[in-house]
Formats: sequence, structure tokens, C-alpha cells
Amino acid sequence: MNIKITKTLTPKAIPTDESALGFGRIFSDHMFIMNYKADKGWYDPRIVPFGDISLSPAAMVLHYSQTIFEGLKAYRTQTSGSSDGGKIQLFRARDNFKRMNLSARRMVIPEIPEDIAIEALKELIKLDREWVPKSDGASLYIRPFIFAADPFIGVRPGSEYMFVIITSPSGPYYATGLNPVGIYVEENYVRAVKGGTGYTKTGGNYAASLAGQVEAQKHNLAQVLWLDGIERKYIEEVGAMNIFFVINNEIITPELQGSVLEGITRKSVLELCRKWDMKVTERKISIQEIADAYKNGTLQEVFGTGTAAVISPVGFLKWGELAMEINNNKIGEISAKLYQTLTGIQYGKIVDDMGWTMEVCD
Ligand code: PLP
Ligand code: COI
Repeated sequence: MNIKITKTLTPKAIPTDESALGFGRIFSDHMFIMNYKADKGWYDPRIVPFGDISLSPAAMVLHYSQTIFEGLKAYRTQTSGSSDGGKIQLFRARDNFKRMNLSARRMVIPEIPEDIAIEALKELIKLDREWVPKSDGASLYIRPFIFAADPFIGVRPGSEYMFVIITSPSGPYYATGLNPVGIYVEENYVRAVKGGTGYTKTGGNYAASLAGQVEAQKHNLAQVLWLDGIERKYIEEVGAMNIFFVINNEIITPELQGSVLEGITRKSVLELCRKWDMKVTERKISIQEIADAYKNGTLQEVFGTGTAAVISPVGFLKWGELAMEINNNKIGEISAKLYQTLTGIQYGKIVDDMGWTMEVCD
């Protein structure tokens, strides 16, 4: 692929206080863009200064939400033991672009070969390498997305699309960092149903989740735990994470049935736990089973998994009138081990014997 590069003439100051990055607020100097037309396929791959893009007010995405996205991170390795050097690497990037194509098929969006997307991303990161944070816990969050851009008000799949990658130096997703978060079990709204789009990363899933999130915030809780859309009984996932429970030393996560996103962190956790010979199960699990385990003292740990959040211990779960404090609102042993191992591999502090990392540049 021949990527045309136009460098910014007005580089921005790169944040020096990495402890104050927050999540998703600051953007690096450049972005990758590629266009699609039905009669041309994908064309004009380019890296340009980060900035506004112009769209017709009739652009189809603005009306009918035909859009998909991904979320992954670039890390600066710390093998040298110092925090100011190392290489830049990606974590399971190919899986993200595979999932982007899975989302594309469901949303009738043209696919992008994974190798092309990875090449585009690597070129972008190489150019903006100074934007990859250097400190532990901080990384370059990467947001690839595709949307329908045709100016047309009828309902049909678009015939013109844009693929864009933007990057954002970021710290922890939750302001609380690795401290446990509180979660609200939503009983009125549902996020997804089987046959719908729950297994994809499409904007509409997140728009549909906002009312629940507002409800959670009213209770001073960070996120929503979604139940299945039919019986409102079985646990699905959290707003931006998959969810795991440890009951009687069994690690349980809801099975994938089409309404839950197959998280790459979820998959990594399952693979690690199986490698460690832990008892791990993907199955239906009801909120009642969690409440029962809480009451009889066998609920040991709850944690969420996601690229942005890594491993996020859940210290508090509110289901109707039942307020469950988990593991004294402290991070559990298994959550901590998973966090150390995953971030250890991501930051190059632990040898990657799983083949999960991909080097980008020095
Ligand atoms: N579930 C939802 C709804 C998400 O938005 C995310 C974040 O991407 C996840 C789960 C976790 O997926 P991953 O581990 O691939 O980041
Ligand atoms: C991620 O974990 O990468 C996400 O996409 C979560 C969220 C910001 C939507």
C-alpha cells in the first residue's frame, strides 16, 4: 500500500505529565484516513494532520449509525528497567482487526484486509512515536473506525465509507485506576439481544447503553451490568468490559451467544487461566446465582476485562435493594495476578510466550 504522508506544520506539545493524561481526551498529531467507493474499493490511503473532517449533513452515518470501531493500545516496553526507553509494541492487534471485519459483516460495511489495517496503523504510530507514553500504566489508545459517508437520506447500506485511525495518549479508563469500581445491575433497559448487534462494536450499542449509564451514575456507580434482553436474568457484560466471577475457586464468565462482545482481554484471561490449570467456565450465569453466592460467602472476586480498563476489580454490585460488597472492596488475588501478567506482557516486563505482542518500532 502506498500511504501518502502529510506531516503537520504545527506540532502540538506532547504532554509531559503522564499521570494527568486521563482517558481519550488528548489526540496525537496525525491520523490515518482511507476512502471507499463501491466502484473503486478502498482508495487514497493517507496520513494527515489530526483535525476536523468535513461531512455532508446528509452523511448516512449521522442518521442511521452505520458505523463500527475498535479499541487497542500501543505500549512502550520497559525491559531495560528504565522508564524512558524501550520499543513500541501492540497487543493482539490482528485480533482487533479480525473483530472489526466481523462487525463490518454484520453492519454491511466493506471489510479491510487485516494486513492493510495493520500496515496503516504501524505507519501512523511510527510517525507519532513520541506520543506513546513512557510511564507504567499509560499507553497510546488507538481508535480505528469506519462509517458510511454518502449524502443520502434513504435507508440502505452506504456506498461510500471512510476508514480513520486516531490515537490518544491515555492513562487508566476509570479515574479510580486499579481500585475497585462499583457496578449497577440494570433491570429496565437492555443493551442487546440475540440476533441483534451486541457482538459487534457498533456505535448504536453504546448509544443504547447511555440511559442505563445515567441511571448507574445516579447511584454513584461507574458502570452498568447488563442482563439478557429476554428473561432479564442472565448476566451479559458491562458497558465497556466483559465480566468474570470467582465462586468457590471456579472462574466463570458468561458464554458468548451473539449478544455479548467477544473481548480480546476476555479471551486472553481465559487462555491464561487455562494455562495455569485453573478451573474456568464459560456458561450462563444468573444474577440470582451471584446473589446466592454472595449470601453464602462463596463469591470471592468479581472483575471486568477490557482494553481500556485492562483488569478492573469490581468492589460493589447493586442489584435492586441488594448491595453486595465484594472482597471487602479490595482487589482479589486472581484479579491481581491477571493484571500483573497481562500488563507485564504488554509492557515487555514479562516474556511473551503466548505470541500476543507485535513490535512496531524502537
Ligand atoms: N464489552 C464491551 C461492550 C466493550 O466495549 C469492550 C471494549 O472494547 C469490551 C467488552 C472488552 O473488549 P476488549 O477486551 O477487546 O477490549
Ligand atoms: C475499549 O476497551 O477499548 C473500549 O472500546 C471501551 C470503550 C472506551 C468503549
